[in-house]
Amino acid sequence: MSFAEQLIDWRRELHQYPELSLQEFETTRRVRHWLENAGLRLLPLSLPTGVVAEVGRGEKIIALRADIDALPIHEVTDVPFASRHPGVMHACGHDIHTSVMLGAALLLKEKEQHLAGRVRILFQPAEESFGGAQRMIQAGALDGVSAIFGMHNEPGLPVGAFATRSGAFYANVDRFALKVTGKGAHAARPHEGSDAILLASQLVVALQSIASRNVNTLESVVLSVTRIQGGNTWNVLPEHVELEGTLRTHQPAVRDQVKRRVNEIAAGLAQAFAADIAVTWYEGPSALINPARWATFAREVADEQGYRTEEADLHMGGEDFAVYLQQIPGAFVSIGSDSQYGLHHPAFDPDENLLEEAARYFARLAEKALLQS
Ligand code: NI
Repeated sequence: MSFAEQLIDWRRELHQYPELSLQEFETTRRVRHWLENAGLRLLPLSLPTGVVAEVGRGEKIIALRADIDALPIHEVTDVPFASRHPGVMHACGHDIHTSVMLGAALLLKEKEQHLAGRVRILFQPAEESFGGAQRMIQAGALDGVSAIFGMHNEPGLPVGAFATRSGAFYANVDRFALKVTGKGAHAARPHEGSDAILLASQLVVALQSIASRNVNTLESVVLSVTRIQGGNTWNVLPEHVELEGTLRTHQPAVRDQVKRRVNEIAAGLAQAFAADIAVTWYEGPSALINPARWATFAREVADEQGYRTEEADLHMGGEDFAVYLQQIPGAFVSIGSDSQYGLHHPAFDPDENLLEEAARYFARLAEKALLQS
């Protein structure tokens, strides 16, 4: 079996048996097994799911990171290696990322004697639910590491294309919940109550004015109300309505500004409608910030390896890799996977031809990063 065939084979096996965040036990077992068979050293870290391997020797350590979890999505592709776990799918291509970093580990193992230090390869659980990176750090996976690199496949780019950017890349992710409390009433006698549904409707509309009328038009911001729930019959005005949604930004100042405006609008509307609106914020991952030096380095190595490189657009999604970059420098990059359907789509079908080139790229990137001061 050729190297490319091996990577495709591994990716297909991972794809058939996807597991949700923090339930990646079989995936962990498989990855451990493949790494051990290839002679890689596994670090004895305390991790229920996830694996960390190492190759080379010396003081200096460079890390590569793959994520291993899947999504609660029912696959609708007709590929022969489609998910055998109903309702669970590698719809974000983390099977691809895992196979790429397995390949990089094998290539680094072959040239172990020539490495100017150690390369540590992280197979991280729970990227989708966020928190996996934090677990890896707590288990010691980043100890002694001077720089870390990772990838996400990009369905909008063809195979052979590479993109990254310096500074903010992926977004700050915030989730909010709004609880509107009015006064219940008979639907035919609304003047006796305070209509929580009418108020919630005004709230949804008013929140959309923040991005369009408060934030500088040149800044990136998305605020989406994604759930609204209230009432349980046709002839009663309910007392409570709950709303939920998400805010995506890149700049801390914009994030603070929008949160402040949401709170102000909620307080103002509550007063105007003689009701109460409780706002709760849940902080997700912060923006992923690529240090310029390492983003430039990652792109230069990609150029040398024959990728067609370009400046990446800002991404409105969140990425748990941001947590590593808050601790140590490094770079996160996009590799073209050319899927007609996008990430998190039940028909997502990335082109496996990206595997070999990406594995060779990351092996080379780590090798060269060891030579940087
Ligand atoms: Ni992903």
